[in-house]
Amino acid sequence: MTPLIEARGVTKILEGVVPVTLVKDINLAIMQREFIAITGPSGSGKSSLLYLLGLLDLPTIGDVLIDGRSTNLMTEDECAEVRLSRIGFVFQFHFLLPEFSITENVALPMRALGRLSSRAATLRAEELLISFGLRDHLRKTPDQLSGGQRQRVAVARALANDPPVILADEPTGSLDSLATAQVFGILRDLVTLRGKTVVAVTHDINLAVQMHRRIHVVDGKLAQFESPASVASIPQA
Ligand SMILES: Nc1ncnc2c1ncn2[C@@H]1O[C@H](COP(=O)(O)OP(=O)(O)O)[C@@H](O)[C@H]1O
Ligand SMILES: [Mg+2]
Repeated sequence: MTPLIEARGVTKILEGVVPVTLVKDINLAIMQREFIAITGPSGSGKSSLLYLLGLLDLPTIGDVLIDGRSTNLMTEDECAEVRLSRIGFVFQFHFLLPEFSITENVALPMRALGRLSSRAATLRAEELLISFGLRDHLRKTPDQLSGGQRQRVAVARALANDPPVILADEPTGSLDSLATAQVFGILRDLVTLRGKTVVAVTHDINLAVQMHRRIHVVDGKLAQFESPASVASIPQA
């Protein structure tokens, strides 16, 4: 099977008076229906790696392949289309647009991709939000919701264009335990019920052990653990 996302020798160096290597020679393949935790100490390069895998940043060296296609060989427009249609992103802080309703926020990526009519985009946004228990809030703006509700909106937005893979950067990092359980349950259901792949950075060992495998990042490099049993033996940052 072709990986949904594959990193080949991915290295990210910030040029400057003193160049900083954020991510170093990463090789990994992310397959269909995987539920992957990315863990590692603060500042180890987890977010940088996720941004590279999600085409939000470009490697200095190496290549990221989406569905087996080299993004190095894509034009900027092709890359943008692939990112919009094949990858959903959830950030630690929701980054919803404050002046728009949550329905409009979820519809925006559909409008950007342009495959649905305006009306169909609104309807699909509402369906997604309703499926995440937000039926009573469709016309509200993000500031009228709780943190957990906002993060559910962010997951709905990530699903807007029905991508096969969701990348989430500490999606529960700023939530209380109840909201954490709800958002984590939604992410898990995306894998088990909807056949999605979810890759989530997390500091929470209790969540990491519930996932299929764990990718541990230290100093921008990988140490990979394949089973929950080995996950449990790794000290947490
Ligand atoms: N734009 C930037 N300029 C300078 N340093 C950065 C920049 N982005 C990230 N870094 C540094 O790169 C390292 C990796 O950052 P990051 O990927 O955010 O780590 P993590 O998500 O694991 O906490 C950190 O030491 C961070 O301070
Ligand atoms: Mg981070």
